[in-house]
Amino acid sequence: MPALAVVGAQWGDEGKGKIVHYLSRGADFVVRYQGGNNAGHTVVFDDKTFALHLIPSGILLPLAHNVIGNGLVVSPRAFYDEVKMLEKRGVKVRGRLHLSTGAHVILPYHILLDALREQSGRGIGTTKKGIGPCYEDKVARIGIRICDFLEPNTFKSLVAQNLKVRAAELVRIKPLAAITKDVFKNYDRLRRFLAPFCRDTSILLEQALKRRKRLLLESAQGSMLDLDFGTYPFVTSSNPITGGACTGAGIAPSAVTGVIGVSKAYTTRVGLGPFPTELEGNTASYIRNVGKEYGTTTGRPRRIGWLDLPQLRTAIRVNGMTSLALTKLDTLSGIHPIKVCTAYRHKGKRLSDFPVSRRAQLEVEPVYESFPGFSGDISGARRFSDLPLSARAYILQIERWLGLPVSIVSVGQSRDQTIIRDKKFLQARNIN
Ligand code: GDP
Ligand code: IMO
Ligand code: MG
Repeated sequence: MPALAVVGAQWGDEGKGKIVHYLSRGADFVVRYQGGNNAGHTVVFDDKTFALHLIPSGILLPLAHNVIGNGLVVSPRAFYDEVKMLEKRGVKVRGRLHLSTGAHVILPYHILLDALREQSGRGIGTTKKGIGPCYEDKVARIGIRICDFLEPNTFKSLVAQNLKVRAAELVRIKPLAAITKDVFKNYDRLRRFLAPFCRDTSILLEQALKRRKRLLLESAQGSMLDLDFGTYPFVTSSNPITGGACTGAGIAPSAVTGVIGVSKAYTTRVGLGPFPTELEGNTASYIRNVGKEYGTTTGRPRRIGWLDLPQLRTAIRVNGMTSLALTKLDTLSGIHPIKVCTAYRHKGKRLSDFPVSRRAQLEVEPVYESFPGFSGDISGARRFSDLPLSARAYILQIERWLGLPVSIVSVGQSRDQTIIRDKKFLQARNIN
């Protein structure tokens, strides 16, 4: 079982951090392969809460090595802050965190450009961490990588070239001299700080795979924010789907032997863009309050909707999911009825998958089926049989509809609030 991918099945914030942390007991390497500090993965254990943005969720237990792959965009400042935060809280980081020399560097002006685009009237509600502009540089072949950042002369000349290309846009925000000054502020200190973490992580992972080490691949963001398969253009600028793990970690597709999709028992989204099952009014406010649905990175209230099967079917297809982890079932307690969108109606046709066209994504009408719902506190459930009958019926019907097993059910934030339905799967990974 060399590499198991854990991918977001919806629009992000599905609880990937919790699930990866849970599974990291059975991993030798936990690998992030795309995105940057736009991610916000919350992990709760032993009465402590950690919000991780850039560093894989496997860092919190002193077991696995953690890798930030070449597919990420990394702000040296954000990397420094997150390592310091973890060390301050007693987490051992050095010697077990590895940063790819092939990852791209987010510089202060990427953040300025991100904010400028958002203010232009054509914003999509980004996290304003400079993610999009940095990936733009990568694709335009003017990007600066960690290996360049580590070489002062190369870095200096690449920054000068890069700023020339960007000058016309940047001078609308700040004089170029001030922008350059920001880039080099604390540069030597940051470079020396980063250096011991940096290496060719593709080689590291190749060696690990050859030694039959177990890899856990952690997506940032969700499948519907995928640059190719999400609600374009309301997406992030990388590929959170499983395919992104190969290009973003430098491992072969054949190394990936399992894919767990993480989905909430309902749906949320932050930022703008189509959301067919979006709810307004009391039910949405109730779920937002009970489920504490506010962004980990930006604090924005999350938009709320019912579970959306055409959306999930699409995510299952493009990721090759082998099972689902269903989170936040506890949040639905007390809601009667619970609705599930089983298909869309569009121009007289029934659709069972998420449409590609941005217009159709806005026009589709969800077709709902209702469930009786359940009541009471289910956060103490540890076995499937501990759940109320109607909660079990909800999960079993989702499995039937999607043709995919729900192998993990999560009923609370902390590690122990987890029901494992596929014990063999865990035994194979030495997780208990
Ligand atoms: P991620 O970005 O996919 O890692 O998800 P986030 O951490 O941004 O958001 C998920 C939130 O739900 C976090 O605060 C988690 O601690 C929390 N969470 C995860 N699973 C459960 C669950 O089963 N029940 C409840 N109540 N909270 C959960
Ligand atoms: P995690 O890892 C939810 C959204 C932003 C915006 C779009 C593009 O916690 O699931 P970006 O800053 O990436 O250019 O913004 O993507 N977005 C997320 N939404 N969870 C995330 O991460 C997100 N990361 C980005 O809100 O709509
Ligand atoms: Mg999140």
